[in-house]
Amino acid sequence: MISSYFLLIATWTVLAFAAPLKRKDDSFNPLDHVDLFYGTENGGNMFPGATRPFGMAKIGVDVLDPSFGNAYSGYAPGGEINGISMMHESGTGGAPEYGVVSQLPFTGEFNPGKELTLARVQHDTAQVGYYGVNTSDVDIEVVAGERFGILKYNYRNLTEDSQILVNVSHHLGAPDRPWWTQRFVNGSIDATTQGYTGVATFKGGWGDQSAWNIHFCCNFSTEATTIATFDNNGTTKSSQSVSKASQDNSFGVVFNFGKASEVTSQVGISFISAERACFNINYDHTFNSLLEETRKTWTEEVFNKFDLTGDSNTIDQFYTNLYGTHLIPTNKTGENPNANWQPSDTYYDDFFTIWDSFRCLNPLINIVNPTRGSEIVQSLVNIYRNEGWTPDGRSANQNGRVQGGTNSDVVMGDAAVKSIENVDWSAAYSAMKHNAEVAPPYWHDSFAPDASTKEGRGALPDWLKYGYVTRNYTRSVSRTIEYAYDDFALSVVAKQLGYQDDHEKYLARSANWQKIWNKDATADGYNYTGFVQPRNADGSFNSTNYDPFSCGGCYWGDDEYEGKPVEYGFAVPHDIETLLSLIGSNETFIERINDLYPLHGKQVADVGNEPSFLTPFLFNFVNQQYRSVELVNYILKNDFKQGSKGLPGNSDGGAMQAWVIFSLIGLYPIAGTTTYLITSPSLSSIKLKLENGANVHISAKKLSNENIYVQSLKVNGQEWNQNWIDHDTLFGEKGGSIEFQLGSDAKIWESGNAPPSSGHYTASE
Ligand SMILES: *[C@@H]1O[C@H](CO)[C@@H](O)[C@H](O)[C@H]1NC(C)=O
Ligand SMILES: *[C@@H]1O[C@H](CO)[C@@H](O)[C@H](O)[C@H]1NC(C)=O
Ligand SMILES: *[C@@H]1O[C@H](CO)[C@@H](O)[C@H](O)[C@H]1NC(C)=O
Ligand SMILES: *[C@@H]1O[C@H](CO)[C@@H](O)[C@H](O)[C@H]1NC(C)=O
Ligand SMILES: *[C@@H]1O[C@H](CO)[C@@H](O)[C@H](O)[C@H]1NC(C)=O
Ligand SMILES: *[C@@H]1O[C@H](CO)[C@@H](O)[C@H](O)[C@H]1NC(C)=O
Ligand SMILES: *[C@@H]1O[C@H](CO)[C@@H](O)[C@H](O)[C@H]1NC(C)=O
Ligand SMILES: *[C@@H]1O[C@H](CO)[C@@H](O)[C@H](O)[C@H]1NC(C)=O
Ligand SMILES: *[C@@H]1O[C@H](CO)[C@@H](O)[C@H](O)[C@H]1NC(C)=O
Ligand SMILES: *[C@@H]1O[C@H](CO)[C@@H](O)[C@H](O)[C@H]1NC(C)=O
Ligand SMILES: *[C@@H]1O[C@H](CO)[C@@H](O)[C@H](O)[C@H]1NC(C)=O
Repeated sequence: MISSYFLLIATWTVLAFAAPLKRKDDSFNPLDHVDLFYGTENGGNMFPGATRPFGMAKIGVDVLDPSFGNAYSGYAPGGEINGISMMHESGTGGAPEYGVVSQLPFTGEFNPGKELTLARVQHDTAQVGYYGVNTSDVDIEVVAGERFGILKYNYRNLTEDSQILVNVSHHLGAPDRPWWTQRFVNGSIDATTQGYTGVATFKGGWGDQSAWNIHFCCNFSTEATTIATFDNNGTTKSSQSVSKASQDNSFGVVFNFGKASEVTSQVGISFISAERACFNINYDHTFNSLLEETRKTWTEEVFNKFDLTGDSNTIDQFYTNLYGTHLIPTNKTGENPNANWQPSDTYYDDFFTIWDSFRCLNPLINIVNPTRGSEIVQSLVNIYRNEGWTPDGRSANQNGRVQGGTNSDVVMGDAAVKSIENVDWSAAYSAMKHNAEVAPPYWHDSFAPDASTKEGRGALPDWLKYGYVTRNYTRSVSRTIEYAYDDFALSVVAKQLGYQDDHEKYLARSANWQKIWNKDATADGYNYTGFVQPRNADGSFNSTNYDPFSCGGCYWGDDEYEGKPVEYGFAVPHDIETLLSLIGSNETFIERINDLYPLHGKQVADVGNEPSFLTPFLFNFVNQQYRSVELVNYILKNDFKQGSKGLPGNSDGGAMQAWVIFSLIGLYPIAGTTTYLITSPSLSSIKLKLENGANVHISAKKLSNENIYVQSLKVNGQEWNQNWIDHDTLFGEKGGSIEFQLGSDAKIWESGNAPPSSGHYTASE
């Protein structure tokens, strides 16, 4: 979503393919091969703390470090810790959200007028389900359950009393983007020497959220000797119980445990009530048993599904990226506090954002974890049923910010064609038609005051009237392109449900992107003509300040959002056939893609931004798949690295990691269709156990650093001459296999049909 592009000519460690490693011994645990700090720096904004797959509790450090900028996930490697808090997002941009319900253990004097911060004495430690921080006087360790956690403090310096600060007002701020910062509204806390309950209310943030409440409940393992409330003006001591409600930007309770050397807290959270926050705690767990259960959940739900053979760096890269695709959205079923919601309504929140995830993260989940895929789609449907609109961006139980189209349509379309179960398709269809036909209510956004960016398609009136979005609206080019893809998804679901008229209507609308293709448009320094361009209401193209290789600030007020016109020109996955005919020849098509990447051209396409996710794979459409293999490998090696700076910018909630996983497997999905484009795998064997019990096996013979090119292929045991494969052939009831013969010869091996353009439609205009 958000990433300024830095041209980093740094290379992934040269992979030592020479000694393939079969990692099947009992001591091998994939969880130990996840680098939790991957993508936490360099703008990746990954959350390294303790959590479960899609878990609501995401427990980690909140850090103040002016040199780091906004700590989007709470974490920064340096700086001072000002809280250990229960909720975070992962891999997001925009502005930090959450960092609420916090504690901070300390010793010594407490100064209520000053923010309490702790310095670390070493780098934090993290494992799947666990996070550890060492400060000079206290060692902090946390483990996460689904909606609660256990926080353990070891006080090592007992010359002063062992204490815990509970700062009700604590939350993440956005020092770099104060206009989007969260703000504390008010709150209250009731405490005894054994624990506390309360509520805190916040508002603001990237989605300009209205006030929302988070309730909390905590039990201590040890009784406090004294408790004291505090606010900016001072502290008030008590030996039994205290209550305090305040709008103060700094208030709460300080618990003093005398000379206790260890204090453990069980902390539960809920959006509904403090009682429910207590109910969300499983009191039977010890620190260790909770950690064990959480790791078991990760193992069974995610890691045990794969069995990998190959170079050990690549295996680590695979598991680390896989982890990052299972963090958000979060399962908040039973936790939506708004009227209309029933506790049983499946509900996921923290779509941050679908604009990022719909292209390959949701399709990955639909393969690896269709139970989640189903719950995610049914959540979109329930959000529509209960609140009126599906989200694009959403957190704190409120829709907020749409960057382009209503891309939840593609998420629903993808689930439909992949036979995702337990979805109310008739309600899903209503939600999609609503997106396609009803303009959302006006919602003022100072970055784009022309139309709603809260939900729905802000520029819908133009789309309905002209078939494209005029320059009267911001992001007219990127919105036009995305509305076309969204309408394609709607046409797909219409067909599946038997609504033939709607199928035809929306298929025709899905071709509307062709209306902003100006065949006469030129670009300085390039011989070919024909680019997408803004268009006026009277049908004339508007080339004022228009360069196909620039998107200005590429932001809310520009013609395109986070992508140049030449990138958006390729973002029509449903109809590459028509794009090819507009471009004119296979040679020019190849030349145009080559021109976007430093492998053969300049750095034009931004691998860190989603509109170009599919582009490097598009050579398959002219049956020159070796070029896709070459380019995808080039991007993998040059733009992705190991470690905390391993992502080339924002993770985008795991979207980047999903791109890496597909690229390592050697397949790329065309969301909303059953097609996967084939490249070549970076591991010699990838076995995936599907939830239906069937097995998928992808194997690569002769894989090496040089041997990345396909020489021949077998699919399900048969010779295969196409560079694409259909979902059911590989991921259906019987599973499937692809056997690659790789070599160093970059050759055209495919003689079969090029990949289908299932939304092929030529606009009659
Ligand atoms: C409590 O949190 C608020 C908001 O994050 C912060 O401004 C304040 O300084 C904190 N108070 C203490 C005592 O740390
Ligand atoms: C950090 O904390 C952990 C957990 O309490 C402890 O095992 C470790 O020894 C500590 N490390 C240092 C350097 O204090
Ligand atoms: C323990 O805390 C006291 C008071 O804050 C401090 O003077 C002392 O240096 C600390 N000792 C150690 C070993 O950190
Ligand atoms: C916070 O303020 C809202 C209204 O602004 C009120 O409904 C709520 O009860 C207040 N919460 C507390 C804890 O005082
Ligand atoms: C934890 O707190 C809840 C709510 O106050 C209480 O019902 C329960 O007995 C406490 N549990 C323990 C183990 O102290
Ligand atoms: C307490 O502090 C707040 C600022 O946080 C101030 O507005 C208020 O007047 C103070 N109240 C008293 C009684 O000093
Ligand atoms: C999501 O949360 C609900 C409520 O706790 C639970 O019933 C459901 O099983 C969860 N989904 C998954 C896939 O774990
Ligand atoms: C444009 O075409 C000419 C003649 O075919 C060729 O020499 C030149 O290299 C081309 N320029 C670019 C930028 O492709
Ligand atoms: C912009 O909107 C106004 C008022 O709706 C309309 O009169 C005008 O023609 C539109 N301009 C363009 C370029 O579409
Ligand atoms: C192009 O659009 C801009 C608004 O973005 C408008 O001011 C200008 O008049 C238009 N130019 C033409 C030639 O239509
Ligand atoms: C372009 O590539 C497609 C796919 O290989 C092929 O069918 C078609 O004949 C090619 N067109 C030309 C003009 O070579």
